[in-house]
Amino acid sequence: MEGGNKVIVTPHRHAGVFMIAKGRDCTILTKNLVPGKAVYNEERHSVQNEYGTEVEYRVWDPFRSDLASAVIGGADNIWIKPGAKVLYLGAASGTTVSHVSDIAGPEGCVYAVEISEKSGRELVNMAKTRPNVTPIFEDARNPAKYKMLVSMVDVICADLAQPDEAMILAHNPSFFLKMGGHFLLIINVSNNTSRPLIQIK
Ligand SMILES: C[S@@+](CC[C@H](N)C(=O)[O-])C[C@H]1O[C@@H](n2cnc3c(N)ncnc32)[C@H](O)[C@@H]1O
Repeated sequence: MEGGNKVIVTPHRHAGVFMIAKGRDCTILTKNLVPGKAVYNEERHSVQNEYGTEVEYRVWDPFRSDLASAVIGGADNIWIKPGAKVLYLGAASGTTVSHVSDIAGPEGCVYAVEISEKSGRELVNMAKTRPNVTPIFEDARNPAKYKMLVSMVDVICADLAQPDEAMILAHNPSFFLKMGGHFLLIINVSNNTSRPLIQIK
């Protein structure tokens, strides 16, 4: 797909993710579920598809989103794809959640759990324009408290930045993860220079 300024957007190997490749550089993008609206002041590109329809993409910044850096870093599979139902633990203000919402698209959904009131307020504002995002103000350690809001999901993603985040994540699958589903755990390494994504099936 080509934009007026000759931007060429092509599908990435991860379904629902797109890219602009320039030499050895690769920018990743998601198709904006809410065209005309940025979430964190990210760059947007409008391009015409083969039918002449304008499609808007949002740049997915790997410096703002660990999941984006995992995609750029060559993660084998993020399991999140169009139509996926995702439970996202540690949503913060919704930067990464907004891209997961783009990828899941109108057929999928994202249940976004956040404990902090301040981040939670921004998350709620973001979700007002995104019908496939359900913000949940709770401690991910207590899934029983939000089980009435969440259906069974294909993927659980945890980005909690807590020393016991694996344990927090482990409280959730028995409530919400479909048989054959997957979970992703984003962990901080001690020197904080890179944050690899660990995938556990
Ligand atoms: C590294 S930030 C998440 C960044 C976010 N995933 C993104 O990429 O936009 C970690 C978040 O987890 C939240 N958090 C920590 N412990 C939590 C818990 N027990 N339940 C829910 N959220 C928690 C923090 O308040 C913080 O907003």
